[in-house]
Amino acid sequence: MNVLLVSRGSTHHGGHDAIHRLAAAATETTGVPVRACFLDGAEPSLHAALDAVPEHCEVLLVATHLPPDRYLDTWIRRAVAHWRSTRGRRARILVAAPLATQPALVTAVGDAITGEHTTLDGNPGPFRSPAWSQITRHRRHVLVCRGPRCTAYGADHVAATLGNRLKEHGLGDDVLVTATGCLFPCNLGPLVVVYPDDTWYEHVDAGLAVRITDEHLRDSMPVDGRRPRDSPPL
Ligand code: FES
Repeated sequence: MNVLLVSRGSTHHGGHDAIHRLAAAATETTGVPVRACFLDGAEPSLHAALDAVPEHCEVLLVATHLPPDRYLDTWIRRAVAHWRSTRGRRARILVAAPLATQPALVTAVGDAITGEHTTLDGNPGPFRSPAWSQITRHRRHVLVCRGPRCTAYGADHVAATLGNRLKEHGLGDDVLVTATGCLFPCNLGPLVVVYPDDTWYEHVDAGLAVRITDEHLRDSMPVDGRRPRDSPPL
């Protein structure tokens, strides 16, 4: 059996590393291969992790959310159904009871109460800084949807390609890239939106991400994108 720890990606990068470390420690303790993956916002995606499981191997999904997160529970089921329908794979996939309902959690809280404590004192750093009143002077703001559907459709590759390409062109100060949650037109995902040009790029893959970076963000020649006013009325 392969085990996947499935988490939300909307935490800081240190949080992602902690989940990967937890997976490595669980592999060592149980002798079962345990890998971390993310429903949205971080890599590897649940789809990519399922792709990497050998054919015909049983997969157990363990959602790592505290407190309980109904969004994650619901979306794991949707993402797996989408993965099955798009990959044509027949792996047996199980899902574990939420961590929040595991008796060991109560033991862990008890251990935290009776274990070693650290006094909080001193000043770890200023809470405010004059620098944090500055609005960055970027020319363009790019939104990359990392909601669960866009992530399932490959937004992780899109975000990586955009980031690498911008770095190659030295456009880091010119273009602010923000990963977002769902932007609503999920059927058009992966979605990339460029402001202030108000251009929405749909079904973005690595090739289109390169063109958006080179032609639109570097050369100011928008690729064929769509503007909200081009959409038919609902
Ligand atoms: S998940 Fe990207 S638009 Fe909904």
